[in-house]
Amino acid sequence: MPVEFRPSDVESRKVYRTLVSGVVPRPIGWISTIDADGNDNIAPFSFFNVACVDPPIIHFAHGTHADGTLKDTARNILETEEFVHNVVTGEVLERMHGTSATYPSEVSEFDACEIERAPSETVVPPRVADAKVSFECTLDRALELGSHILFLGEIQYIHLDDSVVTDEGELDIFELDAVGRLAAGQYLELKEFLELPSVKDEDFPKSED
Ligand SMILES: Cc1cc2nc3c(=O)[nH]c(=O)nc-3n(C[C@H](O)[C@H](O)[C@H](O)COP(=O)(O)O)c2cc1C
Repeated sequence: MPVEFRPSDVESRKVYRTLVSGVVPRPIGWISTIDADGNDNIAPFSFFNVACVDPPIIHFAHGTHADGTLKDTARNILETEEFVHNVVTGEVLERMHGTSATYPSEVSEFDACEIERAPSETVVPPRVADAKVSFECTLDRALELGSHILFLGEIQYIHLDDSVVTDEGELDIFELDAVGRLAAGQYLELKEFLELPSVKDEDFPKSED
């Protein structure tokens, strides 16, 4: 039996469950930040994607903790206006998952989850040494949308590990082994690639009117 409903007629938990099962697979922003006192932090955010190419902007949406307080990631970005996105691959999947636990603010998930730091080039938050790709960002803007704050970050610097770079110096998606998120603790590895030929406008005759 089909199910149809207006989001405003049901509990927000049901809307959440439908969104995270219906918008899949989602890329995972693994976001490292630092607070004004120099304490670093890292956590995953799968309400994440590219927003703009020129200027290059990525974004992720941040919900609060159940008690309504900001998560460390949001507090840090609002304080220092910088973050790094580290691409999640099979090699770091379990450690990434571990960083979603709610640690006290003074505990760094880098230490708690045994993640090696690497220095960033243009921002203060460290990046993940084992990440094959990292994007250093400065906060472009933070938009309060309701339950979530949308953080948009302008990319200032990009790191590509040599293991995922083609002879031409391009990022090789087939070597990347990126992981996406489904719902809850479910993830998806890119194991099988499907390729269709590019669609050409001339393949679709324009209507006469
Ligand atoms: C794969 C994955 C994706 C997640 N995506 C989001 C998200 O998009 N938005 C969000 O608010 N929390 C998300 N979470 C939950 C946060 O990672 C979690 O609340 C974390 O404790 C926040 O850490 P922080 O307080 O150090 O910022 C996600 C968790 C996992 C495991």
